Amino acid sequence: MCGIVGYIGKGNAQEIILDGLEKLEYRGYDSAGIAIINKSGLKTRKKVGRLSNLANDLKGDPINGDVGIGHTRWATHGAPSDVNSHPHTNMSGSIAVVHNGIIENYRSIKEELVGLGYSFKSETDTEVVAHLIDYYYSGDLLEAVFKAEDRLKGAYALAVIAKDNPDEIVAIRHESPLILGIGEGEYFVASDIPAILKYTNKMVYLENKDTIRLTRNGYKVYGPDRMEVKRDINTIMWDVEAASKEGFEHFMLKEIYQQPKAIDETLFRRLDDDGNIYLENIKITKEDLNNIDRIYIVGCGTAYHAGLIGRYLFQTFLKVNTITDIASEFRYNEHYIDERTLVVVVSQSGETLDTLTALKDAREKGARILSITNVVGSSVSRESNDVFYTWAGPEIAVASTKAYTTQLVAFYMLALHFGRLKGTLEDECYDEILEELKGLSQKVQLTLESVNESSKEVANKIKDNHSLFYLGRGLDYNTALEGALKLKEISYIHTEAFPAGELKHGTIALIEEGTPVIAIATQQGLYDKMVSNIKEVKARGAFVIGVTRHRNRDLEQVCDYTIFIEESFNIFMPLLSVIFPQLLSYHTSLIKGNDVDKPRNLAKSVTVE
Ligand code: G6P
Repeated sequence: MCGIVGYIGKGNAQEIILDGLEKLEYRGYDSAGIAIINKSGLKTRKKVGRLSNLANDLKGDPINGDVGIGHTRWATHGAPSDVNSHPHTNMSGSIAVVHNGIIENYRSIKEELVGLGYSFKSETDTEVVAHLIDYYYSGDLLEAVFKAEDRLKGAYALAVIAKDNPDEIVAIRHESPLILGIGEGEYFVASDIPAILKYTNKMVYLENKDTIRLTRNGYKVYGPDRMEVKRDINTIMWDVEAASKEGFEHFMLKEIYQQPKAIDETLFRRLDDDGNIYLENIKITKEDLNNIDRIYIVGCGTAYHAGLIGRYLFQTFLKVNTITDIASEFRYNEHYIDERTLVVVVSQSGETLDTLTALKDAREKGARILSITNVVGSSVSRESNDVFYTWAGPEIAVASTKAYTTQLVAFYMLALHFGRLKGTLEDECYDEILEELKGLSQKVQLTLESVNESSKEVANKIKDNHSLFYLGRGLDYNTALEGALKLKEISYIHTEAFPAGELKHGTIALIEEGTPVIAIATQQGLYDKMVSNIKEVKARGAFVIGVTRHRNRDLEQVCDYTIFIEESFNIFMPLLSVIFPQLLSYHTSLIKGNDVDKPRNLAKSVTVE
């Protein structure tokens, strides 16, 4: 959460930083600020609200200069306000700091600094960093940052500038992400690639406890021991278009429609000459698989929901006990983890702190870590033994869509590949299932085309409701969970997902005349039971929207509204049945006039616990 950008070079720092912050708004958008050094000193401007507030303010009264830092905030310590916005400065305003993360021991440092005569303006944890650097500063900014850092506990990516060092930016990364961008005579630092991709595609992924010093003539990276180190320069293959809306009204809609392509990218890049699955970054052998007696899958939000489907697939094809857990709970639950445990970590961004912490805990206990992530070089990927990269391209909208469907593809491929390798899945089944998987992107495309209009119609019907229920059984229940999350996130309608059979044990009391219920009924073996459950809620006045396969035409007689989707094997239906809930959330949010891509209170990349 929170996005930071820094620039040093010959260009217009204000323009470049604002442009970068716009791309990072998905990380937080309750206030924004900028600090730039020019001939008249260090100028800071901060505004509560969206970045556009700051941009408008700067339009009327720009800050010239070619070195600066900027920040877009997701509040943790202190409410969104001008004064709590970053950058934070020392008392004289000569040192400015932007921060992503949480300084856990800020209270004790603050007390100490207050005792030394420092006065604080904001309620933030970050302000201590500005005063602490001031305390240690005697002309050498890098040295002062090192000394200040020795005092900090928590997670942080920081960028610092000082009026008396007008030709440098010092930045540091610890747990929160930070990348360095290398241009022609100009250098950048940012929380994420899209922020600076317009200016350079040469990036260095900083490692934990790396510090960088950028000048107009070059950069130096210092490792955790403060000695200079060399880090690889990566050439990013995404183009700028990949991080733009490309004619769509919102990133979310673009990302929903990109799913067929993203699924194909994820799948077809990993087929060998015989058309079989070949996983390039996964070194798990048959012997390793025989040694694994337990699998845990961990993730947050949508990634967790993908993991629920992963669990079903691993148990079915690998015949190994698998538990899917929410990353923030994983470390507090009683688990049996040792060298025979495989932990599969799912994270689109690869930076979610809860997920990263769960990963590290499990690794310390001896587990082998396999991660599924969308971001090459992310913290999760670096901390893992094996990595499956989803090739979804950058996902910008806070509500995750293409990341989810490509995570499902990752699980299908892993389960098929491991099942065959281990011998728990017969070659014939492997061939048949893989063949079907190869054609799924087309079915996703057809589903997208056929459900768009109906999702608009249903959005109009549910938009004024205060609560809604999703029902499903088996894999459909997992889709129901994801559908409910999507609707909550961006339409703000209180939505709950229930296993259809469980409803009668309490929740059915909430059904009254007109309560919308979306029933997902794609699992053929469970279809009749679903129909009975639908009748139960109908009898109590629910307005039922059924989602099923084309063959189940009879559902129309039971539901008020029925959505028909493409046919496939039961295990692949989650990839098709999630399309309607995605589009329904999108259209409901749009009709309600909400900010689809940047829903209230949320951020895409959550780098605090
Ligand atoms: C946030 C986002 C969710 C996302 C979750 C996990 O809460 O709003 O959309 O599913 O983080 O993110 P990750 O990057 O770890 O998949």
